[in-house]
Amino acid sequence: MTDDRAASPDNNARHHTAVVGLQWGDEGKGKIVDLLTGRHDVIVRYNGGANAGHTIVVGDQRYALHLIPSGILYPDKVCVIGNGVVVDPEVLIEEIETLRARGVEVGANLRISDRAHVVMPYHKVHDAALEAVLASKASDDADLSIGTTKRGIGPAYADKVHRSTALRMGDLSDETRLRSKLRVICSIRSVELAALGVQAPPLDPDALAKQYAAFGRTLLPHITDTTYLLHDCLREGRSILFEGANACLLDIDHGTYPYVTSSNSSVLGVPAGTGVPGRNIDYVLGIMKAYTTRVGEGPFPTEQDNAIGERIRERGHEYGTTTNRPRRCGWLDLVAVRYSAMICGTTSLACMLLDVLSGFDELKLCTHYRLKDGSISDRFIPDAHRLSQIEAIYETLPGWSEEIDDATDRASLPANAQSYLKRIEEIVGVPIEIVSVGPERTQTVVEV
Ligand code: GDP
Ligand code: IMO
Ligand code: MG
Repeated sequence: MTDDRAASPDNNARHHTAVVGLQWGDEGKGKIVDLLTGRHDVIVRYNGGANAGHTIVVGDQRYALHLIPSGILYPDKVCVIGNGVVVDPEVLIEEIETLRARGVEVGANLRISDRAHVVMPYHKVHDAALEAVLASKASDDADLSIGTTKRGIGPAYADKVHRSTALRMGDLSDETRLRSKLRVICSIRSVELAALGVQAPPLDPDALAKQYAAFGRTLLPHITDTTYLLHDCLREGRSILFEGANACLLDIDHGTYPYVTSSNSSVLGVPAGTGVPGRNIDYVLGIMKAYTTRVGEGPFPTEQDNAIGERIRERGHEYGTTTNRPRRCGWLDLVAVRYSAMICGTTSLACMLLDVLSGFDELKLCTHYRLKDGSISDRFIPDAHRLSQIEAIYETLPGWSEEIDDATDRASLPANAQSYLKRIEEIVGVPIEIVSVGPERTQTVVEV
């Protein structure tokens, strides 16, 4: 037990929790973070940026959050945007204003790391232009475009790694220095963007400095050293909830590279993205859909590009929260989920959108892959090219016809739905603690 836990006023409570997607995103993390916020004190985003779209439904109100942690609907909780996030200040300010206009308090309860990197307009232009160039050069052998959200995520993280051309949230408070840096950065970026075919006047560093310093002034009350803030919370025995954005199979190191995002979006991103050592995470809740979806390019072994996928898409309203793109849909890939559960050290599962599967005569679970050489494996392949060459092997289970969106406990689900969940637990080797049967807070079956 860590010192922080020993100091906790409630040692039996689940202390520090991570919520992470085990597939390719959009598993319902926002709903679960909102649900678990009540029993935590601080909710922290540690990775990604405005590529994320986390939906919370409360009664007839629907909130789509991109940068602000999904705990924001509880005014007495502290929400933190950690150093591992790339922040688009314009999007963030709009998100804050939209929430305030809807009566949600956003003040001292939102803290932003002074070391979080800034997504600049030229990052977004670069992201879109590079994707367009790659798509235009696509051939039968190679289409290198990723299908990004065009939110500037890759170029912003690339600048973080380049170091000299990066800007952090703390840099926005010094307009003179910001202008000096931007004069150099813009001279380089204008040439690079022109090389990518962008037809626009050269970037104006002075105008950008003025605009981003103004954003900095607006956000200044929220900007702080969040690493010390989080360690103070640990010492005081306050309980932290880490909210993953994107998902394990989109992790830059452990996902289906190169069709991934540009951060460590598995639980492994928590320490680097917050400054909190991994040993402090007591409980990792892996979020998975009862089937699989993916947005953008990249291999998807269980994809159903047919009437089955179409049915899932329409019943599950599978259209992107951020880009509104139709999501690709398919059967549940348990080889992939078992891999993600392993990478994330998952202690329990939340199985989401089970209601969407009502009405299928039979359901398929992918348990193994047949490799190119004919051999059979139960191991995931986190490499896009090799993964695209496998064939999914399924187990078939009987479906159920009843609608289940008002189920209140697992025992009240149809017998075949219960068997479906049990088989998932057996194959993944991790218990399902939460079953979600609708978007609302109340449409949740929790069994601890
Ligand atoms: P996130 O990115 O992981 O937070 O997930 P998204 O919000 O992008 O996508 C999940 C979608 O499913 C949202 O529209 C949710 O409101 C919705 N949702 C969450 N849980 C359930 C569920 O159990 N059943 C149904 N039908 N919809 C759900
Ligand atoms: P949430 O948090 C689904 C996907 C994009 C693209 C790839 C790279 O809502 O689950 P990027 O813009 O990050 O460079 O795009 O990653 N992607 C997501 N897909 N949900 C997300 O977030 C995603 N974040 C990134 O579609 O394929
Ligand atoms: Mg989403």
